[in-house]
Amino acid sequence: MHILLTGGAGYIGSHTYIALVQAGFTPVILDDFSNSSPLVLERLERITGRAVLCERGSIADVPFVKALLERLQMQAVIHFAGFKAVGESVAQPLKYYDNNVAGTTHLLQAMDATACRTLVFSSSATVYGDPVSVPITEDFARGHTNPYGHSKLVIEDMLAALQNSDPSWKVAVLRYFNPVGAHPSGLIGEDPRGTPNNLMPYVAQVAVGRRPFLNVYGNDYPTEDGTGVRDYIHVQDLALGHVQALKTLKANGKSLTVNLGTGRGYSVLDVVRAFEKASGKPIAFEFAPRRQGDVAQCYASTTLANQLLNWTAQLGLDAMCTDTWRWQSANPNGFE
Ligand code: NAD
Ligand code: UD1
Repeated sequence: MHILLTGGAGYIGSHTYIALVQAGFTPVILDDFSNSSPLVLERLERITGRAVLCERGSIADVPFVKALLERLQMQAVIHFAGFKAVGESVAQPLKYYDNNVAGTTHLLQAMDATACRTLVFSSSATVYGDPVSVPITEDFARGHTNPYGHSKLVIEDMLAALQNSDPSWKVAVLRYFNPVGAHPSGLIGEDPRGTPNNLMPYVAQVAVGRRPFLNVYGNDYPTEDGTGVRDYIHVQDLALGHVQALKTLKANGKSLTVNLGTGRGYSVLDVVRAFEKASGKPIAFEFAPRRQGDVAQCYASTTLANQLLNWTAQLGLDAMCTDTWRWQSANPNGFE
C-alpha cells in the first residue's frame, strides 16, 4: 500500500518512514528539502535495505501532487511538511501562513481531486496555548500564542470543515508533545539549522562541544525544581503512533484527534542530568530569564491515544538521551 509522506525527509517523517516500511507499507517521500538534507535518503536506504521512493517538490504544487497521488495510487497521506520555528513565525508570519496553511489547502485540493481522502496530520500540543491544568486532555480549550501555533489551529479547523462537508474524508489529527531522540542506529536524527530553539538539540550540541553552555530559561516556575516541565516523547514511539493511526483509520474509518505524549513531565534540569549520564559529558548551564510564551508545565493525558490507537509510548528519558547522543556524537555537524 503506497502512502505519501509530505516532509518525509525531515526529523519526524524520516523516522516514521522506517516504521512504515517495517509495518509492511510502501512510503513515498515528497519533500522540497527546505529544512532537510537529501543525505537522509541514503541513510534510510542503509537502515531499511531498500531503495527509497522520493519526489522532490512542494505540497503547494497541485498538478504535481495530483499526478503523484494518481501515478502511485496512493492510499493515504501523512502530512508532516511545514515550517516549525516559533520565533521565525513571529518575525515572518506570512511565510508560516503561506507554507503551513495555504500549502495544506493545496495538498488537500490535490487529494480531493484524486479521491485520496485519508490523512494523518502533524499537529502539536501548541494548540492548547497556555493550558489551565495538566495533564492535558483532547477536549481542553485550544488557543495560540504565535503564528506557528495559529497555523496548526487553522489547519485543524480546516480539516474539521472538510470532514463536515464530505464524510468520505478520514482524518487523524496527532497532537505531538515534545519529540526528541533518534533512531537507535545513530544514522538519522534531528538536525536543526542554526541555533537550536528546542532544549534537547541544544543540550546535545553543548555535550558535543558546539556550544559553550545551555541557557536554562527560568528557575522560578511553580515546579519541583523551578524549571519548565515538558512531556518529552521518543521519536521512535511517535513514529509507531503514526503507523497505529494509519491502521486505525484504514480499519474503522473513523476520524480522530489524539495527543501523542508519554503522560510524564520532566524538568529542564532532569533532562540535563539524564543527558550527562547518557553522554558521560558535563553539560554547563546558566540560569536565564523566562522565555516569552513559555508555560510552566505541559504534559499529555494519554488515555485517548491508548484507547483509540492501542498505542502507548514505551521509551523513557534515558533512551531518549542515549539515542540523541549516539546520533549527535557520530554526526557532530548533523547531515553536513
Ligand atoms: P522538519 O522541519 O524536520 O520536517 C519538515 C519537512 O517538511 C522538512 O524536510 C522540509 O524540507 C519539508 N517541507 C517544508 N515545507 C515543504 C513544502 N512546502 N513542500 C514539501 N516539503 C516541505 O520538522 P519535524 O520536526 O519533522 O516536524 C514535522 C511536522 O511535525 C511539522 O508539521 C511540525 O510542525 C510538526 N511538529 C513538530 C514538532 C517537533 O518538535 N519537532 C512538534 C509538534 C509538531
Ligand atoms: C517549543 C515551542 C512549541 C513547539 C515545541 C516543539 C516555544 C515558546 N514553544 O515548545 O510551540 O510546539 O517547541 O517544537 O518556543 N529551554 C531552555 N533552554 C533552551 C531551550 C529550551 O531552558 O535553550 C526550556 C524551555 O524553557 C522549556 C523546555 O526547555 O521549559 C522545553 O523547551 P522546548 O524544547 O523549546 O519546547 P517547548 O517550550 O515545549
